[in-house]
Amino acid sequence: MKILVYNFKGGVGKTAFSLAYALEKDFGVVTNDTYSPLEKVLPEDRVLKLNKSASVPDFPADYDIVFDFGGYIDQRVIEAAKMSDWVVIPTAPDFIELQVTLETIKEVERYNKRIVIVANKLGKDDLEHIQEVIGAFFDYPVFPVKNSRLFGKIFEERKSISAIAGENGLARYTYRVIIKQFNKILEHIG
Ligand SMILES: Nc1ncnc2c1ncn2[C@@H]1O[C@H](COP(=O)(O)OP(=O)(O)O)[C@@H](O)[C@H]1O
Ligand SMILES: [Mg+2]
Repeated sequence: MKILVYNFKGGVGKTAFSLAYALEKDFGVVTNDTYSPLEKVLPEDRVLKLNKSASVPDFPADYDIVFDFGGYIDQRVIEAAKMSDWVVIPTAPDFIELQVTLETIKEVERYNKRIVIVANKLGKDDLEHIQEVIGAFFDYPVFPVKNSRLFGKIFEERKSISAIAGENGLARYTYRVIIKQFNKILEHIG
């Protein structure tokens, strides 16, 4: 399986989601980011950084890959969108992020309509706002992911969310909301 995690905008949680997903499902990650933090976090054979001019390799259908892609839609993004089973679009609640997210959806849905929006870094009342803005233009499902230190922990400890949750009861309790939210997304996209 392949999923494309994409937004034109930086800082919305593309890499955090890609890493969490890849660790959870044992996927490799391919990124178009010149300075991807994943190189420091994942073993060499689990991450491929495409250099500036490289196109997306013609991966066999049974390769499990997360494409962690940012920037404006170009040939590589289009290729990744076409070969992916799902397009996950993380967004944050601020005005600029939401405007850019609407533009991102509009462009990428031309190539793949199996789109899931991750309303990320949520504070109180943010979900309703995001659903309203996205829902005014599109019908795609919006999944909440609250603001949580868990994402920093994933980078630090290089462990999946379920591994962190499985460590002890306190971790399971502390991160109970985010674990549930993440699992909802996994249930939807597999
Ligand atoms: N749900 C969240 N709660 C808190 N911090 C988050 C969340 N998702 C991502 N972050 C943090 O926000 C920052 C930007 O996320 P990142 O995944 O690098 O964004 P992008 O890849 O879209 O540029 C990182 O420090 C990341 O750990
Ligand atoms: Mg990134």
